[in-house]
Amino acid sequence: MQNFINQLSEVLESKYILTQDEDKAPYLTDWRKRYTGKAFAVLLPSTSNEVAAIVKLCAQHQIALVPQGGHTGFCGGATPDNSGKQVILSLKRMKQIREIDIANQTITLEAGCILQSVQEKAVENGYLFPLSLGAEGSCMIGGNLATNAGGTNVLRYGNTRDLCLGLEVVTAKGEIWDGIKGLRKDNTGYDLRDLFIGSEGTLGIITAAVMKLYPLPVSQWTTLVACENIASTIALLTLFQKRANSLLTGFEMMTRESLDLNEKHFPQMANPLQGNPPYTVLIELSDHESEEHVRQLLETILEDAFEKSIISDAIIASNLTQANSFWHMREHITLAQAEEGANLKHDITIPLSSLDSFIRETDELMREKFLGVRIINFGHLGDGNLHYNIAPPLGADPKTFNETNEKLIHELVYGQVERCKGSISAEHGVGQLKLDGLRAHKGEVAHDLMKALKTALDPQNILNPHKVVSI
Ligand code: FAD
Ligand code: MLT
Ligand code: ZN
Repeated sequence: MQNFINQLSEVLESKYILTQDEDKAPYLTDWRKRYTGKAFAVLLPSTSNEVAAIVKLCAQHQIALVPQGGHTGFCGGATPDNSGKQVILSLKRMKQIREIDIANQTITLEAGCILQSVQEKAVENGYLFPLSLGAEGSCMIGGNLATNAGGTNVLRYGNTRDLCLGLEVVTAKGEIWDGIKGLRKDNTGYDLRDLFIGSEGTLGIITAAVMKLYPLPVSQWTTLVACENIASTIALLTLFQKRANSLLTGFEMMTRESLDLNEKHFPQMANPLQGNPPYTVLIELSDHESEEHVRQLLETILEDAFEKSIISDAIIASNLTQANSFWHMREHITLAQAEEGANLKHDITIPLSSLDSFIRETDELMREKFLGVRIINFGHLGDGNLHYNIAPPLGADPKTFNETNEKLIHELVYGQVERCKGSISAEHGVGQLKLDGLRAHKGEVAHDLMKALKTALDPQNILNPHKVVSI
């Protein structure tokens, strides 16, 4: 190891090689405080050449690397194991915007750029960078790409994958693959870019990317709507999709229980809809024509929904501050859950046609088998993405409850997901959390193909081993 450190110091200044416990500590525990690992060192390169040199050295010494961005991931993907032999490679010093190409509507940027700063840079240039999620103040574009993050704009603009045109990646051999191209068409063989996106640091280290920009909408209207049951929220989605089509940029569902929890921990985040209805839907329309056009459209659709008895109440935000407060309420659910203590998250997708029966049946089974559990559901309904979360019964010790029931609860939810032909990870990824579940979920053939890819691209198994697939 000493030899490795000596060679490292020819690549990085010593202040960017962290080996003291107090310096490494902030990099060792994930956001949910579910995983704490040990690391031999934390390395902080600032260029792609430095990353490549580090990976070469790691390959030479057979040392495993755990890439890390903002460390906001939910599946323990960026947290090292307990061996103390892995090194963390933090991309946080790589935060250059390399180019903004207005004619091509693209931004080329390094992996350590914080998502919010990218959104702000786009706006400064009169454009929209649509990726948006609760962790945007600290997650990084490399992490977003590595997890193929979703968030609240997917129904209009797609996942991170859909926003990316080109990548620069350091391979397991320490070579730099220069795929920095801003092309919307490129059928030249296997799609390496799409292979690295969503691979959670197991196939290569993303150092830079070309991302798409979009014209800024001239007007946005946000509304909170009350529905009595999940079937009505889906009917409402269908209505908005038909009538507003591509102007529909947000459609988020929150249950009464999730907003009760919000209010418990953040009283200022109470639901402004009277009586906190069983289902609250946050809807956003964005328009490139005019304020009046989108406002009128929104009102007409809401009137129609009232007439059809799909909704029972609605508040249209009268200004930007109120619209932001609706979004803050939605984003605070995750924080309220964290305040409440350890909980079990399921980030699933269900075909919208099966969502109603999925929720009714799963809720019933859950309440029957695990007396007193609290079901904290919310999600990106427009994408069929449900965050189906289970909190322990009031008064129960979360640690003991989870130790006893976690496996059984996951089995119940994932069994239901399989029955509906859904997915066990809509947007958060696999990491170490769902490593064991992946084989059964994907099936032997898909799982073997994934292992073959991992073996081909990282034969020494030094890139984030035992995350996503084990070889
Ligand atoms: P990290 O957590 O640091 O890493 C995630 C994975 O990517 C790890 O496997 C890591 O090894 C790998 N990785 C990181 N950087 C690189 C790189 N440069 N090259 C290769 N591999 C790399 N996620 C959603 O999808 N939608 C949401 O709506 C959403 N909301 C959230 C709200 C909150 C409050 C929080 C805390 C999290 C939320 N997340 C959400 C989860 C998380 O923010 C995303 O997964 C995000 O994309 C992770 O980015 P990061 O920079 O923090 O990555
Ligand atoms: C969200 O949609 O808010 C995120 O995915 C976070 C979460 O699931 O808690
Ligand atoms: Zn989400």
